[in-house]
Amino acid sequence: MMRQLFSEYQEIIPDFETFLESLRKPLPNHLRVNRLKTSPASVIAMLQERGIPLRPAGVGDDTLYEAPRALLPGKLLEYFLGYIHPQALTSCMASLVLAPGPNTFVLDLCAAPGGKTSHLAQLMANTGILVANELHLRRHAPLMHTLSRLGVLNAVLTAYPAQEFPLRETFDFVMADVPCSGEGRWRLSREPGATKESKYRVAMAEAQKKMILRGFDLLKKQGIMVYSTCTYSPAENEGVVDFLLKHRDAELVPFQGAPGIEPGISQWGQERFDGRVHEAGRFYPHRIDSVGFFMAKIRRRG
Ligand SMILES: C[S@@+](CC[C@H](N)C(=O)[O-])C[C@H]1O[C@@H](n2cnc3c(N)ncnc32)[C@H](O)[C@@H]1O
Repeated sequence: MMRQLFSEYQEIIPDFETFLESLRKPLPNHLRVNRLKTSPASVIAMLQERGIPLRPAGVGDDTLYEAPRALLPGKLLEYFLGYIHPQALTSCMASLVLAPGPNTFVLDLCAAPGGKTSHLAQLMANTGILVANELHLRRHAPLMHTLSRLGVLNAVLTAYPAQEFPLRETFDFVMADVPCSGEGRWRLSREPGATKESKYRVAMAEAQKKMILRGFDLLKKQGIMVYSTCTYSPAENEGVVDFLLKHRDAELVPFQGAPGIEPGISQWGQERFDGRVHEAGRFYPHRIDSVGFFMAKIRRRG
């Protein structure tokens, strides 16, 4: 079933057989140390005392670690104290690529359950203003729980549809980690779900195009946006970025990714995308042992 599900990507995913093999392996146990409350050295020492070794993840920065596979980090005291947050490595990469500094004005368009929002707050050192937007009210409780457990003090919550977020203010940084078909999460869920149905996928890409445009329109001049998904589908990735490039004066910013990151693709079947989408990054599980991801770093000219 797995081969059948992903066969449409055989031409674009390099070393496709190794990719399929990597999907059979369990996801590693990655976690982020929360610098808002503690330091990597303290967490390493605390866990070491209880016989739990942490290995540096080897990509990103010194807050990202791999814990033993059998460990349930969500049951540790350090989790409840807000010292650690279990989070996929590639999900952490998105905030590191956006890289907002202290005292900036940041919008997270699709925020729940708050992994990236809390990471952004950490990179902002709890200063500036972080608007965490999440449409679905049922997801506000987990979002608020994440932010309060991790000691985030610079965030306000809103509940607008991302594509209609009010154009009253503009932001230095926008994170657009949009809802997607989630194919990159296969190792977590092993469910194709409804997301493979073509009518669902077309609607998804249309919604994502509206979200990327609104995210871009909410940027200050020279502001930076990261558009990210956890899917392989070019229609939801390069196709959406291509749409932005056709409709707005946007530029793609090359970024220092993880080792093994693959460039965005400029052709998918009959479709040709703007060559600049090469600057986007595709993260595959056989190249970086995590959830499959796509991200593009975009600057508003002016
Ligand atoms: C990929 S998840 C975000 C994950 C989050 N950034 C994190 O790192 O924890 C997408 C989120 O967008 C929300 N969402 C779906 N449609 C939306 C819309 N039209 N506007 C804003 N948020 C939306 C979903 O409820 C979901 O929580």
